[in-house]
Amino acid sequence: MKVVILKDAAAVAAYGADIFSKQLKQKPNSVLGLATGSTPVALYKALIARNQNGDVSFANAHSFNLDEYLGLADDHPQSYRHFMNVNLFDHVDIDKTNTHVPPGNAKDPRAACEQYERDITDAGGIDIQLLGIGRNGHIGFNEPSSSLASRTRIKTLTKETIADNSRFFSADEYQPQLSITMGIGTILESKKTVLLATGEAKAEAIKATVEGPLTAACPASALQLHPDAVIIIDEAAASQLS
Ligand code: F6R
Repeated sequence: MKVVILKDAAAVAAYGADIFSKQLKQKPNSVLGLATGSTPVALYKALIARNQNGDVSFANAHSFNLDEYLGLADDHPQSYRHFMNVNLFDHVDIDKTNTHVPPGNAKDPRAACEQYERDITDAGGIDIQLLGIGRNGHIGFNEPSSSLASRTRIKTLTKETIADNSRFFSADEYQPQLSITMGIGTILESKKTVLLATGEAKAEAIKATVEGPLTAACPASALQLHPDAVIIIDEAAASQLS
């Protein structure tokens, strides 16, 4: 596991954008694993700028997102598909038919999870997986106690994650408590993983990820098993590292 500590969130986003740009230049038809949440937004902004000035192209890229709320249609403003359109896909030259987000409104969600795994395999596997981390150490929506061998499946969100994500929902808006998420086993099969974390609120989870034991109590600690895992953090997120 390689840990890169940078001054602030802007430096973390720029470093992450450099890794994704390099990947797309080396392999234009890369299969990108993508994440939602607050943390990757600045990285996506940097990639949009680089795409629009001709520095990097997504024209031949494919993508698979980590997770989606169960029960939300693609066009729901709170869906992660909508998030990806607004924060990345609508602004770059990616072919949207090559972008994949777990289908939150699938008629048969269990079958959809199995199909998602097959789609990743058929695309040749994920070349590079972007990750954020929850305060409880979750990656994707693999909450603590998730099996380290888990595959794409339906997962109940913890009270902590529901509370953390309530900032995206207005008071009278329905907030889903179930998700479809790639499993930890799925994530570990990516050829490279890039986890970004910024701010003091993530410091405890980062300590457990980097220095703690390998344990399902901190799902991100599974990245210790990955041969090419990079953790890019700012000084605040690194503040509890020894
Ligand atoms: C989102 C995802 C989650 C987030 C995590 C951190 O697709 O997989 O694991 O990365 O909840 O979210 P933020 O970045 O909002 O702190």
